[in-house]
Amino acid sequence: MADFKLKIRRFDPESGEPAYWGDFDVDLPPERSVLDGILQVKDREDASIGIRCSCRAAICGSCGVRINGKSALACNTRIGEAAERARDGAITIEPMGNMPVVKDLITDMEAVHWKKVRRVVPWLLPAEEPPEHSEYIVPAEAMLDVTQAMACIHCGVCVSACLSMEVDPHFIGPAALAKAYRFVGDPRDGAEEERLKDLAEDPHGIYDCTHCFACVEVCPKDVAPMNQIMRLRRRATGDHGIKDDNNGYGHEKAFVNLIEKYGTLHEAQLLPRSFGDGSLVKGQIEPGAVKQLIESLPTALRGLKSGKVTPKKALLHPKLPDQDQVRRVFSEVESKDDRVELNLYIVGESGGEEAEA
Ligand code: SF4
Ligand code: SF4
Ligand code: FES
Repeated sequence: MADFKLKIRRFDPESGEPAYWGDFDVDLPPERSVLDGILQVKDREDASIGIRCSCRAAICGSCGVRINGKSALACNTRIGEAAERARDGAITIEPMGNMPVVKDLITDMEAVHWKKVRRVVPWLLPAEEPPEHSEYIVPAEAMLDVTQAMACIHCGVCVSACLSMEVDPHFIGPAALAKAYRFVGDPRDGAEEERLKDLAEDPHGIYDCTHCFACVEVCPKDVAPMNQIMRLRRRATGDHGIKDDNNGYGHEKAFVNLIEKYGTLHEAQLLPRSFGDGSLVKGQIEPGAVKQLIESLPTALRGLKSGKVTPKKALLHPKLPDQDQVRRVFSEVESKDDRVELNLYIVGESGGEEAEA
């Protein structure tokens, strides 16, 4: 047994009082969970602490909180390890972020998470009528691509950690977009293009993610929501050529073209090329692109004034000395007929080596 200190964020909206920290001591073996610690406090000291939980085994998805500032399932976090990471010796436990707090550690999942999940039409829209007297048979290998997204337990931990959602609460978010890929990648679904167009055109859709990896890092089920968002983007741009009003298509093409040409990112060209179709000239002379270029002039002038951009930097960019190697990678990838989407549920932690074994 060991003694651990818990610092629990308390809040009762009905009291009219602001949130405050409650300090508690618990006595547990270090391999027990933070949830066990909270339940011990409830049992021995203060039964009024609000926490949602059920399975205590990282299955039901109900005990999401922030432990020492990091989003996690309380039942899936060892109390001893949390204590090692705690500042000032006390494990801080707060409600999840990006969601309204109902009471103490309980957040309103309906107001954010479930609303966003419903937004992506989370059910199959079959391409054809289901067979009348038999099951819809799908070859197992055709479903491999979506197994990772199917592992989601809807705990909301990724939503809590999402930095884009902090800035834009309307962002559809990691969990709902991972759910969207579960159906976009399903071979039985007949609405792939409509779904992708909808998510690409939404200003809070697939191009609102900033690749910060926070959702990948915290997800207890290795769903890697950011990877599912990247898959949605690849299908939207590469497979369907969806040119969206958010410049997501142009930005992706600009990025790829610049790396292929220079080996490193030519930042000064990224913005103007993103307004068009990613190429240097073609696309940038379209009326929409010209309008956006003009609107971005104040930003460019600010960059010039601060010295971040210089005429030399804007016009010239050195190629990598071994740029041929970068081009070789491009032609190798582009020569493949099929794109293989792999995930941890198929290849394991060691990736390709294991898959090849
Ligand atoms: S993607 Fe992961 S973190 Fe996000 S809701 Fe699903 S299981 Fe939870
Ligand atoms: S990678 Fe994207 S979806 Fe995931 S937490 Fe960051 S901004 Fe949010
Ligand atoms: S209690 Fe079910 S996931 Fe933690």
